[in-house]
Amino acid sequence: MTDSTEDDRVNASRQAESIPSPESGSGALIRFDRVSRTYPRGQVRAIREVSLQIELEEYVAVTGPSGSGKSTLLYLACGLDRADAGTVWLDGTAPKSTAEWTRLRSTRIGFVFQTFQLIAGLTAAENVELPMLGVATSEKKRRKRAAALLERVGLSDRAKHRIAELSGGEAQRVAIARALANSPSVIFADEPTGNLDSHTAREILSLLEDVRKNEKAALVIVTHDDLIAERASRVIHLWDGQVVGEELRREPA
Ligand SMILES: Nc1ncnc2c1ncn2[C@@H]1O[C@H](COP(=O)(O)OP(=O)(O)O)[C@@H](O)[C@H]1O
Ligand SMILES: [Mg+2]
Repeated sequence: MTDSTEDDRVNASRQAESIPSPESGSGALIRFDRVSRTYPRGQVRAIREVSLQIELEEYVAVTGPSGSGKSTLLYLACGLDRADAGTVWLDGTAPKSTAEWTRLRSTRIGFVFQTFQLIAGLTAAENVELPMLGVATSEKKRRKRAAALLERVGLSDRAKHRIAELSGGEAQRVAIARALANSPSVIFADEPTGNLDSHTAREILSLLEDVRKNEKAALVIVTHDDLIAERASRVIHLWDGQVVGEELRREPA
């Protein structure tokens, strides 16, 4: 196949699928355009000129050895960390200020961490209500929504328990409920089952997959676990801050 034929084919398919031009972030839910992040301490090039795209409602697993930049990639995608080169687009906009990122994050993004990152002294319900402060109008509405979300993750009977009184699996359920508080269009999960036994890990994974389907959100999971990676519709392999491979597993369920 000649280059021009290849170009024509690519152009035709771009038009057919209305894939945005590289200058635009529109179309994809998330788009990285040659994104780099170097940590000043030790000049660690954690992410190196990464370009990628995540579509609406997609289920993506990000894998790679420890230190390959997986967490950094997720933090950049939600503005918890900032790129020092390249552009991160979310929903067709490239937030420039911390304030803009904070606003987008609170309305479009849910985050689930390996270590839960809940506030230990607050109850399950209070933790789920937190992201709604300044978003949901009344306290009554926040309470109601938190109760509904805790029911959604099967934890109604623990709503008034403090986080310190919950098991790891229960805490991660609270974290998932919290991530859903403002109906995000994408849920990022950084090794969400890494601190759980294998049975609980499976339950948490099923819950995340369930939530993705019902809430029509994209799910991006960072994982070491091949079993998790296998369930995603696309797997992105990172190595030393770069995307070194991608696999399309199957159509998103
Ligand atoms: N705050 C930081 N300061 C300096 N180096 C960092 C910082 N955070 C991460 N790194 C380094 O960046 C690289 C990628 O880290 P990370 O994204 O956490 O990888 P992974 O999640 O794949 O284990 C590692 O070499 C790590 O040591
Ligand atoms: Mg990590």
